[in-house]
Amino acid sequence: MQQLLFLSLPPYTFPATFIAFYGRQLPFLVTPIVAFLLLLLLSFHQWRHPKDKRLPPGSMGWPYIGETLKLYTENPNFFFANRQKRYGDVFKSHILGCPCVMISSPDAAKVVLVTKSHLFKPTYPSSKEKMIGPEAIFFHQEIEQIVLKYLPAWGDTTINTLQEMKRYAFDVAMISAFGHKQDSEMNGIEQLYQCLEKGYNSMPLDLPGTPFNKAMKARKLLNETLRRLIKERRETEKQSGGGRGLLGVLLGDKNQKIDQLSDSQIADNVIGVIFAAHDTTASVLTWLLKYLHDNEELLEAVTREQEGIRCRIIKADRRLTWDDTRHMPLTTRVIQETLRTASILSFTFREAVEDVEFEGYYIPKGWKVLPLFRTIHHCADFFPRPEKFDPSRFEVPPRPNTFMPFGNGVHSCPGSELAKLEMLVLLHHLTTRYRWQVVGDEDGIQYGPFPVPKKGLPVKVTPRKKKAP
Ligand code: HEM
Repeated sequence: MQQLLFLSLPPYTFPATFIAFYGRQLPFLVTPIVAFLLLLLLSFHQWRHPKDKRLPPGSMGWPYIGETLKLYTENPNFFFANRQKRYGDVFKSHILGCPCVMISSPDAAKVVLVTKSHLFKPTYPSSKEKMIGPEAIFFHQEIEQIVLKYLPAWGDTTINTLQEMKRYAFDVAMISAFGHKQDSEMNGIEQLYQCLEKGYNSMPLDLPGTPFNKAMKARKLLNETLRRLIKERRETEKQSGGGRGLLGVLLGDKNQKIDQLSDSQIADNVIGVIFAAHDTTASVLTWLLKYLHDNEELLEAVTREQEGIRCRIIKADRRLTWDDTRHMPLTTRVIQETLRTASILSFTFREAVEDVEFEGYYIPKGWKVLPLFRTIHHCADFFPRPEKFDPSRFEVPPRPNTFMPFGNGVHSCPGSELAKLEMLVLLHHLTTRYRWQVVGDEDGIQYGPFPVPKKGLPVKVTPRKKKAP
């Protein structure tokens, strides 16, 4: 009865009525709520100020969210530099749901990635083997074919550089993964990857409709597609060995240990490699076009270098070779400086396999450890005037452990040579035949997940007018 009356009362009479009816029971109702709030406050305080004084200094941000939002909305140069200034070269934070220690000195990064790498296991990407590098050099002709397929379509049109570079890098990644194009499956796989990418750097909230949830579904579908392709390949290439590409290597020779991988392990590795390969390369390529566009003299110098090679190729009536790509010193330095300046992978992840004493601090088992490549690449002690795009700084080799666009140690990028090859082949054809003009005056950076020029750098591509001799 009391309850019925209470429900039928108008809302503005609620507090008085509530006290009148429940006055005597109030302490029993309020005490647990207050206790719960106190507990919440206490754990929040402990979160921000863990008791162990030996943990590195730093901020853990908000519960669960940590500093993730700041990391993915602020300019990464400022995010890391501010914390380094405040706390030193080793500091703690909390991102993507994990407590972590960030490391911004070359020597400390070397300890994590090389000398004491056994104490810090890689947690992402999952691929464990150097599988792509040795195969990469066999791909230069296929890469050139892809470039030649895309170039005419870009001429005299406005393109979104990032999007086009993604298509190019994706085609190359598919060839390196499968040895040849899987035309019928290509579009479907490409779309699933786009979905996977969107969720990759989102908050790991597995609720219906979140980017993370969609990415998980796409990942499952990708796995099914890959397993179907693997099954087909096993059938068709039973007699002839595994075939080309990463998939061929993984299916490989019956006598090799690698043959013992299960279909799902193979699928995981192939998915991991395509993922690691195309967005990274496309983002660096987008920056390359931006820097060359902004530095006209440099573009002309690169063009001269490439024209020299072009002349030799035409004279000898042959195609571009792997050896040609080894004789492009200026273009190579431009790529190195782009990798440094853009530092699209700001850091990598490791995880402490046990409690570790590190530079006078304590890193608890299970915490992530992040060597900050970007901060090291932008440190004026190693790269004077770091904000300036200056390829000539690579005329002398950088100091050891200061230039790590592809990581360091056993888990450094196995696709580094393939990525550089893709850039060299594209620049060879692009600089000698086309010019590009940035459309609009957007000069900022967008993050998704890698830092790239705003709006993906829309450019108008036109055939190059050769200057009179
Ligand atoms: C410019 C383009 C690229 C950049 C900047 C880049 C950078 C990196 C970095 C920094 C790592 C992490 C290393 C570590 O955690 O220690 C990595 C790992 C990896 N990359 Fe790349 N990468 C690029 C292109 C590629 C390509 C084209 C492929 C394959 C064809 C590839 C395949 C991989 C794989 C499989 C790993 C994991 C290696 C392991 O865990 O042992 N990457 N890459």
